[in-house]
Amino acid sequence: MNTFNPRTLLRDHIQDMPPYQPIHPFDVLSERLGIPEDELIKLDANENPYGPLPQAKEALNDFSSLHIYPDPESRYLRQDLSRVHNIPAERILAGAGADELIDLILRVTLDPDDLILDCPPTFSMYAFDADVNAARTLKVPRKKDFSLDLPAIEDAVQVYHPKLLFLASPNNPDGGLLSRAALERLLELPLLVVVDEAYIAFAPEGTSAIPLTESYKNLIVLRTFSKWGGLAGLRVGYGIFPAWITPALWKIKQPYNVNAAGAAAARATLRHRDQLKEQTQAIIAERERLDKNLREVPWLAPYPSRANFILCRVKGRDAGQVKERLSQQGILIRYFNKPGLDDHIRISVGKPSDTETLIQALRKL
Ligand SMILES: Cc1ncc(COP(=O)(O)O)c(C=O)c1O
Repeated sequence: MNTFNPRTLLRDHIQDMPPYQPIHPFDVLSERLGIPEDELIKLDANENPYGPLPQAKEALNDFSSLHIYPDPESRYLRQDLSRVHNIPAERILAGAGADELIDLILRVTLDPDDLILDCPPTFSMYAFDADVNAARTLKVPRKKDFSLDLPAIEDAVQVYHPKLLFLASPNNPDGGLLSRAALERLLELPLLVVVDEAYIAFAPEGTSAIPLTESYKNLIVLRTFSKWGGLAGLRVGYGIFPAWITPALWKIKQPYNVNAAGAAAARATLRHRDQLKEQTQAIIAERERLDKNLREVPWLAPYPSRANFILCRVKGRDAGQVKERLSQQGILIRYFNKPGLDDHIRISVGKPSDTETLIQALRKL
């Protein structure tokens, strides 16, 4: 008899880890709720409600080389990014979303059982990818207002020597920014600091950490086209890296990680970024209007946000049920069934008409 046992082949740490919980695909939700896709109001994944720029869509129509592998070095895209940020292209690497870059950074730095430092509540991919890479996550929770506990981070670094610290700015799920003073203090620590700026386009000018990459050798800044650029489905992100780490990243990345359509749409988006800026301004203005409206709902306490979403504490009601009852009406928001967040909901900023429908539904709940 064949004694082959597949379980002995699976790596132990992968068998032990919980799966990532992504949001459900749009068409699946539409079918499940019995509501057509175009009637769903999607405020659960911080996507751009206006979609890509028309010029990005045109770039996709214009494609004659889909049968040819894309440039493994994403040369033109990186040159464009180099001009936009005034950073040498050698320090820029593009990826299939910021998500891929998070995984690559962990894969080039961590040995099994090494530590990363994570400050939850925050984007869950940092701890998830640490699990995938057989590393361990040291958690230094944020304070009640979601700001960082700097002395606790410093103590943890001194005692446990984690290799990496991940910080989203603005942070997902609360939308708060990391101050320049806090970042400069953390950059003095003996570890690599990864600042994830997925939502920085919605924050005030001058709040990006990119200028600091010139002077700090332990700073990486990640960006994505998924949120402001409306290209979440095409999976394009990039990072600004210190020169010492890029050769290792080049070595291990999948050769064709950025697909040709994504690169073309991202380049068109950069070319027409002034136009996108108007759209970003509209989203910021809508965030302020949404915030004002949410504050008028007596059982919600919104947190001030610099991103394209607003986190609210739900007072005296079950937050999970609020999410369920909205979704039955075709309004999709995010609920996190996790300690510290289980009485909260996160709402992405949509179009003005989405705000109207949402607020009416919340008032009636
Ligand atoms: C903080 C943060 N970083 C990165 C991402 C993922 O970006 P990408 O779509 O480029 O993989 C998200 C998506 O929700 C996010 O919230």
